[in-house]
Amino acid sequence: MLAGKHILLIIGGGIAAFKSLDLIRRLRERGAIVTPVLTRAGEEFVTPLSVAAIAGQKLYRDLFDLGDEAEMGHIQLSRVADLIVVAPATADLMAKMAGGLANDLASTLLLATDTPVLIVPAMNVRMWDHPATQRNLKTLRGDGINVIGPNDGDMACGEFGPGRMSEPLEIVAAIEAHLSEGPLKGRRILVTSGPTHEPIDPVRYIANRSSGAQGTAIAKALADLGGEVVFVTGPADVPPPEGVQVIRVETALQMQAAVEAALPVDAGVFAAAVADWRVSSASDRKLKKSKDGLPALEFAENPDILKAVSHLKEDRPKLVVGFAAETNDVVENATAKRVRKGCDWIVANDVSPATGIMGGSENAVVIITADGVDSWPRMGKDQVAKQLAARIAETLG
Ligand code: CTP
Repeated sequence: MLAGKHILLIIGGGIAAFKSLDLIRRLRERGAIVTPVLTRAGEEFVTPLSVAAIAGQKLYRDLFDLGDEAEMGHIQLSRVADLIVVAPATADLMAKMAGGLANDLASTLLLATDTPVLIVPAMNVRMWDHPATQRNLKTLRGDGINVIGPNDGDMACGEFGPGRMSEPLEIVAAIEAHLSEGPLKGRRILVTSGPTHEPIDPVRYIANRSSGAQGTAIAKALADLGGEVVFVTGPADVPPPEGVQVIRVETALQMQAAVEAALPVDAGVFAAAVADWRVSSASDRKLKKSKDGLPALEFAENPDILKAVSHLKEDRPKLVVGFAAETNDVVENATAKRVRKGCDWIVANDVSPATGIMGGSENAVVIITADGVDSWPRMGKDQVAKQLAARIAETLG
């Protein structure tokens, strides 16, 4: 899919710049031509020689380089690419882009271009959370800039939280989605999947029987149609598909935070079996048997992620798809659930043990929309996913 595609890769000055070398390698393995641009700050983290050697291409560094200008002016450089990728996109580079500054080669290229741009932010958690960066992010999204990540995780600075640059294969997946020719090209779609685990103590948790098979198949089918898929998954039995951005969570609260961070999206498919309750009295030490009797667990209600997204004033996805796992009166219950949750469609199925659907490889679903009820025959979960993805593509237009 990337064979012969030209990617202009701008490497900003952050510790994550080392991952950009792997990104170049992965892109070249897939046949892409990568022209690297290294900022002055980027040179502090990776050497010009290593970038040029791995890219197998001339490296561009200076705005006012007479040799470069004679060969290919910076305006032209910004336009020959099929996609411009900024990785890592530092807080400073994002601020320059949002403000329209052009005081070095990278920012000038970004201002002079009419090529689609994908930025991959990476920075300290506090810098990411700062209102200035969040304001810039909003501006950039409004300007049509595509954003992938950042991920949660341990940071080089010793803090934990959002700020880690997406992994090279996640970036490759996003690039492939942008350059695809499928009907979901340029569409960003969120899929939640799997169960959630709600801790009782450090070694015990409450879970459910969801395998994540249906959500995983849907994410894959959407990516196969060229969608840029953000896949937020609880601890599922089946591995996540390739070609999507994977965000792993355990609890409903973590899933909610990951979903909020992924917005805005064109469509949201909420296939996860989110626990309705968490243990509010969860202990940070292992509960021990005691002569004083059984431990009493107190519960708190988890946020309803689907309902919250369906009711967003700003950033509501154009299409919100919920799931209903019912054991009786499937159509009646699911029809009421669609209205209660405020979503556009409900994909309902009968998960009574006799059907073998939960944890099995087949599914028999009913799609409930404002226009009515559509019952699909029993078929493989992969087939359900393909049909659903096709219907989503048709609806998004
Ligand atoms: N869901 C969610 N957040 C929750 C609970 C559910 O996003 N805290 C989403 C699921 O991903 C699914 C849909 O809501 O798309 C249906 O969830 P379900 O648990 O069946 O709905 P409930 O409101 O719990 O209804 P009921 O009590 O009838 O099962």
